[in-house]
Amino acid sequence: MKRFNINKISWDELDELRRPTPETTDFDRVVQAAVSRRGFLTGLVAFGSGAAVMGAGAVRASGELKQGAARFAFTPIAAQTDFTVHVPEGYEWKVLASWGDPLFSDAPAFDPANGTTPEGQVRAFGENTDGMELFDIDGHEVIAVNHEYANLDINLPQNDEGTPLSVTDVRKIQDAQGVAVFEVKEGENGWEVVIDSPFNRRITHNTPMRIAGPAAGHALLRTEADPSGTESLGTFNNCGAGRTPWGTYLTCEENFNGYFGSTDEAFERPEGFARYGIELESGYDYEKFDPRFDISRNPNEPHRAGYVVEIDPSDAASTPVKRTALGRFKHENAEVTLAADGRVVVYLGDDERGEFLYRYVSDDVYVEGGDTSGLLDAGQLYVAKFHEDGTGEWLALTPEATGMDRAMIHIHTRQAGSAVGATTMDRPEWVAVNPTRVEAYCALTNNKNRAVKANAGGDETPATGPNPRAENNYGQIVRWRPENEDHAADRFDWDLYVMAGNPEVHADAYAGSTNVTPGNMFNSPDGMKFDSRGMLWIQTDGDDSNEGEFAGMGNNQMLVGDPASGEIARFMTGPKGSEVTGATFSTDRRTLFVGIQHPENFPDPEALPRSSIVAIRRADGAEIG
Ligand code: FEO
Ligand code: CA
Ligand code: CA
Ligand code: CA
Repeated sequence: MKRFNINKISWDELDELRRPTPETTDFDRVVQAAVSRRGFLTGLVAFGSGAAVMGAGAVRASGELKQGAARFAFTPIAAQTDFTVHVPEGYEWKVLASWGDPLFSDAPAFDPANGTTPEGQVRAFGENTDGMELFDIDGHEVIAVNHEYANLDINLPQNDEGTPLSVTDVRKIQDAQGVAVFEVKEGENGWEVVIDSPFNRRITHNTPMRIAGPAAGHALLRTEADPSGTESLGTFNNCGAGRTPWGTYLTCEENFNGYFGSTDEAFERPEGFARYGIELESGYDYEKFDPRFDISRNPNEPHRAGYVVEIDPSDAASTPVKRTALGRFKHENAEVTLAADGRVVVYLGDDERGEFLYRYVSDDVYVEGGDTSGLLDAGQLYVAKFHEDGTGEWLALTPEATGMDRAMIHIHTRQAGSAVGATTMDRPEWVAVNPTRVEAYCALTNNKNRAVKANAGGDETPATGPNPRAENNYGQIVRWRPENEDHAADRFDWDLYVMAGNPEVHADAYAGSTNVTPGNMFNSPDGMKFDSRGMLWIQTDGDDSNEGEFAGMGNNQMLVGDPASGEIARFMTGPKGSEVTGATFSTDRRTLFVGIQHPENFPDPEALPRSSIVAIRRADGAEIG
């Protein structure tokens, strides 16, 4: 059976290959309407009575930037195209940890030519870092970080194209992914991993997990190995992250579908597999050597993935918990905040073309020091509907509204969203909540299928509302302000904080919004995090060819947006070939840790490329955020 070469393509490209865009479409008229600049501009509405309310250049037509009031503590840097990291003058960076670095003294050192060993990988830092959070645990600084996926050719350099040939190969790949938890300390040589710290831990594709919430124990989650449907192994494609007010880490399972395949080519896929992109061929060949991933033998195993998983970083022996109340889809991150009355609100994106944006609101309120064990189990899941007039609403995914029972809503969450008419989005990536005012932002990274093709559930994708451009290769950031300044409110106002674009190539809507200039161009916003001052750190995962549509944008990068003025400034650039993803601050906020995923020849051009976390500080030791 054919295995797609995941070394060379991204996960969304993999799904696209399996479900090609039709040559001709029903949406041609919509495309024509959307690319008309006039049509675009008049179709958008800023918050309230006008852009002045937001004070930002949300769209080109909605007002001028409030320049001069910017709060950037750095001189923006130029776009770069080389193979290293760049930061502004007065800042410095250093690698904290790279794929294969031992977390325990019994792991062998990384071999520059051959990488990790089958026995050592599970005791070492994994590959392809993504979302991360730093926790202050009784004065110990502990980072939890995702290892989203594995490049087969890098992990198995001795095999042709890295194709797994044995169960040992598969285990090694499985051990390079999941999550790492480890203590860090700042010493004379800067930040370093504390080897053998009691906090250090690797969570992999085989770590025991508990399944909790409305889907736990459902017949579709039961397997031969776990007839209870409540105990699974492993967490998969851990992409974005989140943190709770009670000090736990949330890791989000994104493209979990790619790990499952069938050894029986005649196997008929169960209902619901198509919507989630679960196909007969996998991206890793796990199914050939590990029957758990063979859907012809274990058709319910994929129902046990696609969730948000809660991990206690203070206890390396704790069992991670899959929180099915937060829905099952290709989770990007889980941004947690509190409603006005103290209930827990979690914003959640489903990163696939034309999928939805979700919100969870707990039944009970969070009380510091109180029992938090059920706060992510008992609550209501909602999906976003955006209206053309700049308002929107959260639609509750209830049995009455969806025609599905409670458990099925949390297993086939995408189908539930379709049932209530949710708005198809341009690939919702990270959501970030502003700590200085009641508003939230979501990066809509890009969507070449916008106004070209329906989503996998058949929902149309017109170029309207917060997704206004057909064949959207650049992406945008939508923000919303909930009614009554309460994240639990069911209505909100929205606008676009920025539309990425290229003002040197285009003069229409694809030039981007007014806060995009030749000096700060970027495409495909993805990771986002607010700092304590209310500045929005934006990371990109896009086309770094620096040619054509993307000329002048350079490598993937990290920018800072000032929500008050609308201005955006480039802070950092990553090595060519890499995505900049994951950011967290040290407790004293003098260091910003940033992830470099899938670099081409970084940090050592002579060795295998290694995804790494870098620590960025100001040379004068002042706070960063
Ligand atoms: Fe793993 Fe949607 O990024
Ligand atoms: Ca991402
Ligand atoms: Ca992305
Ligand atoms: Ca990625």
